[in-house]
Amino acid sequence: MNRKTRNLIAVVMALGLGVFAVSQAAAQTVRSVRGVEVGAAEPAPGDFRLLPDGPPIPRDYVQQPPMVPHKTDGYEVSLNFNKCMDCHSWSRHREEGATKVSLTHFRDRDGGELSNISPRRYFCLQCHVPMTDARPLVENRFQPATGLR
Ligand code: HEC
Ligand code: HEC
Repeated sequence: MNRKTRNLIAVVMALGLGVFAVSQAAAQTVRSVRGVEVGAAEPAPGDFRLLPDGPPIPRDYVQQPPMVPHKTDGYEVSLNFNKCMDCHSWSRHREEGATKVSLTHFRDRDGGELSNISPRRYFCLQCHVPMTDARPLVENRFQPATGLR
């Protein structure tokens, strides 16, 4: 093998390795549910507004934490005070016309029944959020189980 041929083989091998590396990199690109690369810039925030206060919003499935049908701005939920419980506790809900928190909210993680709101359910906005008129980010054809509609 002369020197020229050896050099040629080296170049061809290097090119081959390069193509392999590029295709490997493409295969490893991680994409979000919306089909965007995870490293891509954040899309501009949508043009949406909170819905005005109204009656309870229908739930899409039985275990769903109901959406909050009213504004929650300035409602303090801290170590000393839980503004939500001002209206949603069992002792206050009647006079406020609010749904009372369900029994599940008094259960600790071992299934024990407490006499007040469970620490697991203390930070209401972890699970209950106000509703906006934002368009869904991805198409969704979810249907609740037929016996539970
Ligand atoms: C000033 C009283 C008041 C406060 C404070 C309050 N709510 Fe409400 N909330 C209501 C009333 C009244 C309704 C029911 C609206 C209706 O029936 O028309 C309601 C409805 C809801 C519902 C819907 C219940 C259902 O049956 O679908 C959720 C969830 C909720 N509130 C969560 C919260 C959370 C979380 C907070 C604290 C950040 C909070 N609320 C603070 C009065 C209050
Ligand atoms: C860890 C999630 C979680 C947290 C935190 C939480 N909830 Fe809920 N909530 C749920 C789920 C799930 C449901 C529906 C199933 C059920 O009743 O457990 C629900 C149901 C409710 C309902 C409707 C009850 C009914 O009888 O239909 C109200 C009102 C409510 N929550 C208020 C609150 C308030 C007020 C807080 C804060 C003190 C709170 N929740 C904290 C998950 C949560």
